[in-house]
Amino acid sequence: MWYGTDAPPLSGHEALSVAPMVDHTDRHFRFLARLLSRRTVLYGEMIWDSAIAKSAADGLDALDELLSFSAEEHPVVAQLGGSTPELMERAAEICVARYGYDAVNLNAGCPAASGPCFGAALMKRPALVGELCAAIGRGARMPATLKCRLGVDEYDSAGHLDAVLDAAMAAGVDHVVVHARKAILGLDTAKNRSVPPLRHDAVRALVDAYPHLRITINGGIKTLRAARHEIDAFGLHGAMIGRQAYAQPWILADADRAMFGAPNRATSRDEVLAAFAVYADGAVEEASPARQAAVWRAALRPISGMFASTPCSKAWRQALLEEQHRERGREALVPPSAVLDVALATLRASAAGRRELGMAPPDSAG
Ligand SMILES: Cc1cc2nc3c(=O)[nH]c(=O)nc-3n(C[C@H](O)[C@H](O)[C@H](O)COP(=O)(O)O)c2cc1C
Repeated sequence: MWYGTDAPPLSGHEALSVAPMVDHTDRHFRFLARLLSRRTVLYGEMIWDSAIAKSAADGLDALDELLSFSAEEHPVVAQLGGSTPELMERAAEICVARYGYDAVNLNAGCPAASGPCFGAALMKRPALVGELCAAIGRGARMPATLKCRLGVDEYDSAGHLDAVLDAAMAAGVDHVVVHARKAILGLDTAKNRSVPPLRHDAVRALVDAYPHLRITINGGIKTLRAARHEIDAFGLHGAMIGRQAYAQPWILADADRAMFGAPNRATSRDEVLAAFAVYADGAVEEASPARQAAVWRAALRPISGMFASTPCSKAWRQALLEEQHRERGREALVPPSAVLDVALATLRASAAGRRELGMAPPDSAG
C-alpha cells in the first residue's frame, strides 16, 4: 500500500487545510482526503468538550468512537466547541496525549445557538476566548489554535476583532483561521455561510497588522489556484477550503504539488478508489456488530463527489446510490468494496468513464 504516516510536523506547514465540517469531515472522509494529498492539514468535525468528558466517564469504547482515527490521517486537527475552561483543558489533553491529534483548535465561528455562549457567540467575550485558548494550551501542552469569524452581530468592528486576537495571542495562540464573514446569531447556519458578505480584504489586512500570527484565510475559496493566490499575493500563511473540498475531493489530488511544492500522491481516481475500498472494508470489519451498518453507510459517503464536475458525475452518484439501495434489501452487509466494484463497472462501460478513472491529477494552480 502506498499510503503511510510520513506527513511532516504540523507547525508551519499549513498552506492548505480542509475545514472542520460536522457530519462531513469524519475519519472516513479524512482517510480519502489523505489518499489524495499527503500534506493537506485535515480538521475533524467539531466535538463538544462536554461530549469528551461524558465519553471519558462512559469508558474507552465511547471515547474511541468519538476521537479515534487512523494513523494515516496525520496531520489532523481536533476542533473543540464549548465555553468551560476546565472541560476544554481536559478535552484537549485527551485529544493530544491519548489520541495523538497534531493540534487543537477552538471553535469561535459557529453561529448555531447551542448553549449560552459557544462558537461565534464567544467573539462577544474576548476574555473568555483567551481563557479557553489558555486552557487548551495547558491541556494539549502546545499552543491552541483558533477559528473565528470577522465578528458577530454588532461586534463587527476591526477593533473588536483585534480584541479577540489580542486575547488569543496573550494565551499563546500563534495560528488563527479566519472565516472571512461575520456571523449573525439567530440566522441559520447554512445562511450564515452565504448571507453575511465575504470580506477577504479584511482577513488579508491582518497579515500586516499581526506579523507574529500565522493567518489562514477561509470562506468561499474553491480552487487551489485561489488558495495559492492568497499566499503569494497577500502573504497569508495558508488557505482553508471547506464545502468545495467535500463536494469535489479530487481537487486535493494536486495539492501537494500546487500548495506544498512536493510530488503529488495520487496518480488516478482508479488507484485512489482501489485503496479506499480496502480501507472501507476494513473499517466495517473492525466495527462492533451494532455499529457496522452505520459505519458501512458513513464509509461510502465521502466518495460520492469523486467525479464532481466531470461528465461522469451523475452516472457515478446514481450507480453508488442504486447499489446502496439494493443493499438495504439484503440480509447481510456486502463489503463496501463490492458496492464500489459495481459503481466502477458502470463507469468503465463508457469511454468517458474510463478516461476520468485513469486521468492524472489536474494541474490546478498553474
Ligand atoms: C456542513 C458544514 C459543517 C460545518 N461544521 C463546522 C464545524 O464543525 N466547525 C467549524 O468551525 N466550522 C464548521 N463549518 C464551517 C466551515 O468550517 C467553513 O468555515 C465554511 O464552510 C466556509 O468555508 P467554505 O466556503 O470553504 O465552505 C461547517 C460548514 C459546513 C458546510
